[in-house]
Amino acid sequence: MKKYFIETFGCQMNEFDSERISWLLEKENYLSVQKPEEADVIIINTCAVREKAKNKLYGHIGNLRTLKTSNPDLMICIGGCSAQNLKEKILKDFPYVDIIFGTHNISQLPELILKRKSIKKSICEVKENGFDYVPGNFKNTFPFKAYVPVSHGCNNFCTYCIVPYVRGREISIKPAEIIEDIKRLADNGVVEIMLLGQNVNSYGKDFEKPYSFSELLAEVAKIKEIRRIRFMTSHPKDLSQNLIDVIAQNFNIMNHIHLPLQSGSNKILKLMNRNYTKEKYLEIIDNIKSKISDCSITTDIITGFPGEERNDFEHTLDVVNKVRFNRAFTFIYSKRDGTAACNMEDNISIKEKKEWFKELLVIQNKISLEENMKLVDRNYEVLVEGEGSKGLLEGRLENNCVVNFEGNKNLIGKFVNINIASAKSFYLKGKIIKINDDKKNHL
Ligand code: 5AD
Ligand code: SF4
Repeated sequence: MKKYFIETFGCQMNEFDSERISWLLEKENYLSVQKPEEADVIIINTCAVREKAKNKLYGHIGNLRTLKTSNPDLMICIGGCSAQNLKEKILKDFPYVDIIFGTHNISQLPELILKRKSIKKSICEVKENGFDYVPGNFKNTFPFKAYVPVSHGCNNFCTYCIVPYVRGREISIKPAEIIEDIKRLADNGVVEIMLLGQNVNSYGKDFEKPYSFSELLAEVAKIKEIRRIRFMTSHPKDLSQNLIDVIAQNFNIMNHIHLPLQSGSNKILKLMNRNYTKEKYLEIIDNIKSKISDCSITTDIITGFPGEERNDFEHTLDVVNKVRFNRAFTFIYSKRDGTAACNMEDNISIKEKKEWFKELLVIQNKISLEENMKLVDRNYEVLVEGEGSKGLLEGRLENNCVVNFEGNKNLIGKFVNINIASAKSFYLKGKIIKINDDKKNHL
């Protein structure tokens, strides 16, 4: 039997693309292996969002050279956003790479592998735009939870971001196809789904007869076997009142919203082409908090965007202090060739950017800890998702907080009630108080 090894960098959409690649290869009777040295085909599914991802990728491809030397039949395939973006450089510097395939060429991979075996040259297949996703054609890696894409690509062109260039324009998947996928997953025992899109809130705007993300969510919520519905990512400019209402009205839509802030300064938000203001963002948060009980809010923040000054950074801190995010994913601005921000004047030293970044981290970590502390001594329903560190099990509360606890591995995929015993900034610790075999049992 032929064996494949796949390594994934980057976001949930990349993880999902790897599930598509796995499905395609397993259909051709490939077996998944956990070690690259055991594989006949190695796939690296790459990310391009930050410069660091590029350097990491080059290091990784470099490390595969020895494997290829000892096994010349090994097939090395580089896919995803960086493959798309850096194809010339990869072809030139790593001639032992067999196949480079873009984000719109995934479904071609099995035929590209066959083709490569019959010709002597490396293959590079990168379409700039397109849509080659077939609903349902993905591997369900976890039997109890699954990603389900609602759209591909992005139309927003935030000026720092490379995604619209590598993933193309936004294309929404038809509601009937999404619902069919989810029903099939539910029939197979999946209880949690994560709806994926670069900007789920603009879902359906490309249909002839417009259809909104909140309408889709309301439809999905009718599938009661799916006990946990999550979605990401929301863009503040498109987040509607209807969406907040639908979340509030449906107990199987989780009380968690990931709402990237990026910056709290109106000047910087404008330069980033984000199309909302600090005031608008805070208004949305107030609205969410008043309508959705115990809703956790997470975010992404960039520090050191070109033109950002101390005063702008303080506006970001102000929003952080006002919103009290449960968690923030923070990034130092990384210049991406070809994006609009690339040519913007940037007078702040990297030293200063790093200091602001650290300052933000300290403040946010304290807030995360304080917010998590509020959960201590309370009981929550948890879906057991796997093994965590130190032999503990790991799961998530409805609000997406991670909790570790002692228990038997056969609980993975089941619901338990947990009493929260202690809190850290990024996770909780707790004790099982009840195992919920009955799928309808709620706290
Ligand atoms: N530099 C730093 N962070 C970036 N992100 C996207 N592009 C860049 C960049 N060029 C961050 C944004 C986005 C998250 C996925 O990655 O915060 O929301
Ligand atoms: Fe990038 Fe902005 Fe699109 Fe998100 S919404 S993928 S940050 S361009």
